[in-house]
Amino acid sequence: MALPVYFAPLEGVTDATFRRVHKAVFGGPTKYFIPFVSPTQNLAFTSRELSAIAPEHNAGLFAVPQILTKNADHFLWAANALYDMGYSEVNLNCGCPSGTVTAKGKGAGMLADVPALERFLGEIFARAPLAVSIKTRIGFTSPAEFERLLPILSRYPVHELIIHPRTRGQFYTGTPHRDVYAAALRETRLPLVYNGDLFTLSDCRAAETAFSGTRALMLGRGLIANPALARQYAGGEGLTVPELRRFMAELQDAYLAAHPRNVALGRMREVAKHVVCCFESPDKPRKAIRKASSLPAFEDAMQRLFDEHELREEPGFAAEG
Ligand SMILES: Cc1cc2nc3c(=O)[nH]c(=O)nc-3n(C[C@H](O)[C@H](O)[C@H](O)COP(=O)(O)O)c2cc1C
Repeated sequence: MALPVYFAPLEGVTDATFRRVHKAVFGGPTKYFIPFVSPTQNLAFTSRELSAIAPEHNAGLFAVPQILTKNADHFLWAANALYDMGYSEVNLNCGCPSGTVTAKGKGAGMLADVPALERFLGEIFARAPLAVSIKTRIGFTSPAEFERLLPILSRYPVHELIIHPRTRGQFYTGTPHRDVYAAALRETRLPLVYNGDLFTLSDCRAAETAFSGTRALMLGRGLIANPALARQYAGGEGLTVPELRRFMAELQDAYLAAHPRNVALGRMREVAKHVVCCFESPDKPRKAIRKASSLPAFEDAMQRLFDEHELREEPGFAAEG
């Protein structure tokens, strides 16, 4: 039985426009996670954050906002505001590896100060008005840290624990520590979600088999590269070039309706950078997409990609080089 698939949050890619058009054209994921909002002592969302989380921008899909903070009061303020907007779940970010984030003890930085993490969790789980899930890495410097972290996390009513089994030091490179995830399945009663390097249909099926007892799979880059992947894994149709053309055209129209042309171009290039991985011989079109400094140049590069290149047998994300 295929597991539910969640769309991972990718700041700068899976914004409200992307989520809406993806859901309309392909569907598949049962939840779409919104890239993090970062509440501060001002206790107000920025206009950019408000636009990302506005319920009317997330209508028709199960969206889960994500909060990045190490301050329990700031977390609870944001959780209450999101609850008042109608959300039923929020996600805590314990995974962001960015140096500017971890230097402040946030994101994956929370894993480096375990006593502070325990105090934080105690406060938020005592007072949160809605379900709280957590997206975490397995340690700051070493995968062995998870042996200490998991029992602590397991003391709280975590709605779902999404594990990206890399350390902060690995960023998104190297191999995920799948053995640490498998051990966690044996050692906790929390519902677990696996995230990391599920790039193709075979990867999803292999994870389903290897990780018995898993609640769901979370996909990021694989689902941006092949936006039909969740649907196909659930038993639906696989990706076709005409459908991908339509998706990219609808996405571009939606970006142009919401943003200036240069912003729309930037967003489209970011998506296309992933999509190009689905095709045979992607080096030339990848270069053309990267170089496209105007929308007509970008459209030309995409047209050539669609006209002149075949989809790979198992379309999905592939790391470059
Ligand atoms: C550009 C970029 C932005 C990301 N933004 C977020 C984010 O806002 N919140 C988060 O929890 N993870 C974020 N991530 C991590 C992804 O959600 C996901 O965990 C990661 O891509 C690994 O999953 P994948 O191998 O399926 O892509 C980001 C990753 C990338 C590459």
